[in-house]
Amino acid sequence: MQRIKLPTHIAFIMDGNGRWAKKRFRPRAYGHRMGVQNMFKICSHAFRLGVRIVTVFALSSENLSRPQEELDELFDLFRSYFGKKRERMHELDAKINIMGDISVLPPDIQADMIELMEETAGITDRLFNVCVNYGGRQEIVQAVNRAVSYGRFVDEASLSSLLFTGGLPDPDLIIRTGGEMRLSNFLLYQAAYSELYFSGKMWPEFSKRDLERAIVNYSARDRRFGNVREE
Ligand code: IPE
Ligand code: IPE
Ligand code: MG
Repeated sequence: MQRIKLPTHIAFIMDGNGRWAKKRFRPRAYGHRMGVQNMFKICSHAFRLGVRIVTVFALSSENLSRPQEELDELFDLFRSYFGKKRERMHELDAKINIMGDISVLPPDIQADMIELMEETAGITDRLFNVCVNYGGRQEIVQAVNRAVSYGRFVDEASLSSLLFTGGLPDPDLIIRTGGEMRLSNFLLYQAAYSELYFSGKMWPEFSKRDLERAIVNYSARDRRFGNVREE
């Protein structure tokens, strides 16, 4: 991939696990398990290509209204990859940052998440944000309430600094798999000028080649940011 404008920050809406499994006559949980494996494959590839920040949407605030059985299966996956299989996270060689309200998760998972964030806190060149029980509206409301509690008005910069992504560049490219063309409450504030890329592939089948295709497509876009000149 030569003379390609590489995004600094890519965010993934990893959608389609359930439908992918259903097509194969397997339970939704199988789709989630394969989805996690693909997450490692695709995110490692993004870092290898030189992307510095990768953000993944693992569980939305609204997903918490799914049947308890599915949530338990998802929690088991978190328990596994933030616990016993933590090595897979370390292999990304990135600072791990959890974004979202994790206070609703089982306490052992919260503790593992915090430990992993601490273990990787010294890594400065790569960042991996995992959005868990994350909602863009909730994030904005929480940020505004914090400003109110300080007795402050907000402006764009100060509001942005109070978000989970405070201090980070906005995502240059947001990739959603699964065929739906919506943000589903993901990074609403940060996505103001993100390039959006929608793939019809289900997340577990989204390949490294698909990622490269998305980046090449991004690279050819003219980001005007409201102005009239080419970048
Ligand atoms: C995305 O896959 C993963 C989560 C939301 C946890 P889905 O579970 O939404 O899969 P589909 O969209 O039903 O196929
Ligand atoms: C978005 O997918 C959330 C994640 C990928 C974690 P959903 O499956 O929850 O989105 P909707 O319900 O189709 O909008
Ligand atoms: Mg879905």
